[in-house]
Amino acid sequence: MKRPLALALASALAACAPMEQPLDGAAMDAAGSDAVSSADSAADRVAPVGDAAPEIPSVADPLFVRAVAYNPMMIPLGTVTAVTESATTTAFYGSLGMKLVAGGALRASNSEITMWRTAATVPAGIGTGSWIVAADGMGRVHRVRPDNALELVSDRYGLTGQSVRWIAAGGMSFVGFATDTGIAVADGMAVRQFMEGPFESFAAGSGRFAGAGMNRVKALDAMTSTLRAYNLPGVTSVAIDAAAKLVAAAGEYLWTENADRTLSAVFRAPMPIRSLARSGSRVWFIVGTELGTYAMGRVSITNGAMLPMNSTLVAASSDELWVLSAGAPRRYAVDTGTQTPEAIWRATIQPIYATSCWRCHGPGQTSPDLSTFAGWDANRMDINLRVVMEMGAPMPPDTSINAMQRMVIGSWIAGR
Ligand code: HEC
Repeated sequence: MKRPLALALASALAACAPMEQPLDGAAMDAAGSDAVSSADSAADRVAPVGDAAPEIPSVADPLFVRAVAYNPMMIPLGTVTAVTESATTTAFYGSLGMKLVAGGALRASNSEITMWRTAATVPAGIGTGSWIVAADGMGRVHRVRPDNALELVSDRYGLTGQSVRWIAAGGMSFVGFATDTGIAVADGMAVRQFMEGPFESFAAGSGRFAGAGMNRVKALDAMTSTLRAYNLPGVTSVAIDAAAKLVAAAGEYLWTENADRTLSAVFRAPMPIRSLARSGSRVWFIVGTELGTYAMGRVSITNGAMLPMNSTLVAASSDELWVLSAGAPRRYAVDTGTQTPEAIWRATIQPIYATSCWRCHGPGQTSPDLSTFAGWDANRMDINLRVVMEMGAPMPPDTSINAMQRMVIGSWIAGR
């Protein structure tokens, strides 16, 4: 595989010395402190990122996923817009309010609020253990109390009057909130605010927070209060991967962070990549109606996942994934069962054959028989030329194949 070009320039921003400021009346109470710090805007210290070069890899490994049943009692959940899991409980938030499900059974339900933006399981703001928290449609933060009732906790985080869009557990004792104006990071002692928003996407992990919006990525190291900004035109989504590296999606390109903190484009998809979500060792994404993963430097993409329109991804426990859409939430796991080459062909290529090639490439026809795995394998060099690279007389001679399918075929050939 070609080496990804490291051509992006990141700006090295000076550490933003946080200025401790008392926060009037809106302090973390029992958590102990009442300080909010603010950092200088990173906006004017941003270096541009170079154009993505055409040499960026565009072949992916096949990805096999299976749907995971999670709702054996068919609890009505409505349209779920936020979900989070604690050790025992899954909290669904959406059009029917909040539903707390444990062991497949409904443990509690609250239908007072039916507009929800985001949810997370975070270190408890008071005492030990964890809290399930969520931001409602107005950006107010609620936690689930031990008696399963909702309690407004915006004030505990110094966020009274602020509109929270995203909440993310940042590892260690860190909790991050992306608001309409910036990032607030609570560490159990204090809440620090960085006027760096607003963001379309927000992610956290390993003590780092990242936000994407308005053609920029901002990355905050919560331990050193160091902010870094990247110009990344069209960026829609960010994640922090298992190795604490930034991953970003901008248009068709997937960008990842190098050891020197610059960003490189590592993959070019046939369609825009969106909705990154890190679960376990993988960063998941959506491309078209397919699911993709980025892990250990490799990109894998499904063929035929048929995600609903406007789906969004949320990490689930056990390295699994939630897909939220207007319909019921779906839960997926990577299907790691070892696949024979023929089974891979059957899952990824045969469906394309069945829609785009069968009319002219069946058994007994003058053009090569491509109805079998053996037929494709024997003709893969020609298929690469005529179908993937569209050279000579491109195949198929009609428009019955799209860029996504060409990528699937190209990826299959690269893996043979
Ligand atoms: C409308 C009919 C038609 C469709 C649909 C079609 N092909 Fe073809 N294909 C042909 C014909 C006829 C030839 C032989 C003439 C030529 O090489 O152009 C051919 C040749 C080829 C060749 C070159 C074989 C060689 O030995 O040089 C490849 C590879 C190929 N097709 C692949 C495909 C694939 C893959 C698809 C589906 C994605 C497809 N074709 C769809 C009609 C079709």
